[in-house]
Amino acid sequence: MMERQKIILDCDPGHDDAVAIMLAANSPQIELLGVTTVAGNQTLEKTQKNACRVLQWLGRDIPVYAGCGRPMVREPRAAGDIHGETGLDGPVFPPLHKTVEPEHAVSYMIRTLLASDGDIIVVTTGPMTNLAMAMRMEPRIVEKIRRIVLMGGAYANGNVTPAAEFNVLVDAEAAHVCFTAGRPVTMVGLDVTHKVLCYPEIVERMAQVNNGASRLFVDLMRHFCKTQKEVFGMEGGPLHDPLTIASLIDPKLLTTKPMNVQIDLRSEQSYGRTNCDYYGYLGLPATADVAVDVDVPRFWDIVEDCLRRYGEEEGAT
Ligand code: BDR
Ligand code: CA
Repeated sequence: MMERQKIILDCDPGHDDAVAIMLAANSPQIELLGVTTVAGNQTLEKTQKNACRVLQWLGRDIPVYAGCGRPMVREPRAAGDIHGETGLDGPVFPPLHKTVEPEHAVSYMIRTLLASDGDIIVVTTGPMTNLAMAMRMEPRIVEKIRRIVLMGGAYANGNVTPAAEFNVLVDAEAAHVCFTAGRPVTMVGLDVTHKVLCYPEIVERMAQVNNGASRLFVDLMRHFCKTQKEVFGMEGGPLHDPLTIASLIDPKLLTTKPMNVQIDLRSEQSYGRTNCDYYGYLGLPATADVAVDVDVPRFWDIVEDCLRRYGEEEGAT
């Protein structure tokens, strides 16, 4: 049995972020220390509420900290076309009782990492503003970060512009800070997340689990798959964010390749692009392990196992 990996999950829920929370909150391989939220798919006010809604639904008493409400340099931009007005359109959530902690997410990250033995993995599934701000505010945390596992970027096409993926585009300066911090980075980009498409038969398979968590999954996917079809013409919604957590649950899930990755901060057309030197042509040191492939059936098994672990008593309370 693998040692439980301590993680902080920094996210902007978001339908796929919500599934990432589901996986992280009940995996025997993971100890979810805290959930931090950022403006991304929707405003900070909405993403922090959504994190609370999901954890309350799942009956998981994990603290939520709200972080930065806007990117480091640029204007905020949301993804309401995909995630809806609330950021988590679809499920009907019961009245919200769970509240965010009074401490700012950046202070929480600093406090927790400083006090740690260097054994905490920071997983980001939204714009990387909180982590970048924390590293700038307290550089002593940098060496305390065991690894950064992030959903973001692509070595092929972007999904907001032809060049850039949403999380990196929204706060490319923050992504630059994280990629250049000198800590091990695993980049889980669109190149692999576009392979885990939640087709109707997958939704049906998860519906069979028939508990509170699976009902939440199905309600989330109903909205998410519909908007992914409308916006991108995809037949199943790509479950970007949960791949980060699933890759910690099963280290063989992803195939990665070390690459030199540089974020484009200067160009107009390609701002936010993760320039990945796939062939090592530049002869520069690798700065990230970039995911190049994923064991898709294994991923869906991980999701189903996770849903099954939530008992019938949990959910929608
Ligand atoms: C990323 O953008 C967000 O809309 C999703 O939650 C995911 O983190 C995919 O580009
Ligand atoms: Ca996200």
